[in-house]
Amino acid sequence: MMLYLFFKWLHLVMVISWMAGVLYVIRMLVLLADDGKKPDVREVLVKSGLRGYKIVTVPPMVLAFVGGLGMVAVVPAIAKGGWFHIKFVLVLALAAITGIAGKKLKRYAKGEHTLPSGKSLRLLNEVPAILMLIIVYLAVFKPFTAP
Ligand code: HEM
Repeated sequence: MMLYLFFKWLHLVMVISWMAGVLYVIRMLVLLADDGKKPDVREVLVKSGLRGYKIVTVPPMVLAFVGGLGMVAVVPAIAKGGWFHIKFVLVLALAAITGIAGKKLKRYAKGEHTLPSGKSLRLLNEVPAILMLIIVYLAVFKPFTAP
């Protein structure tokens, strides 16, 4: 039980950081799309965005998986719930969005890539928030669980 709770603690703390990080990185992309032509602004945004991605987004994402899968290792019955399967697919989508946002920022930093418009990036900003709402709903209400 103690180990399960440890994984749960790790999971929740790391999920918070991952969510903050991915929203931050996308926010930096929006600001760069709007204002990245000014070299001093560009430098600060790229630097802060990359640091945010490498420190508060990717390692917490990996540790959120460790915590989540650790809970499943301790209580394997969790993986039988329908809610868990749906949650896992949505979580993979969230991880993919995280990777895409990071890749866009890295390519932009190298000067290889022009960003999509600020408007479409603002739309991209909504997707992790909506996924988060559904994921937390699934984790809390656990629908589609066999009695
Ligand atoms: C990284 C892959 C993930 C895995 C493998 C995973 C797995 C799990 C597992 C096994 C539980 C315990 C469920 C139970 O109480 O029986 C859990 C709880 C939870 N997860 Fe995740 N999860 C992942 C990502 C996420 C993400 C991205 C979020 C939020 C955006 C999230 C939010 C939560 C919350 C809020 C709980 C606590 C639910 C409760 O105690 O009632 N998880 N997760």
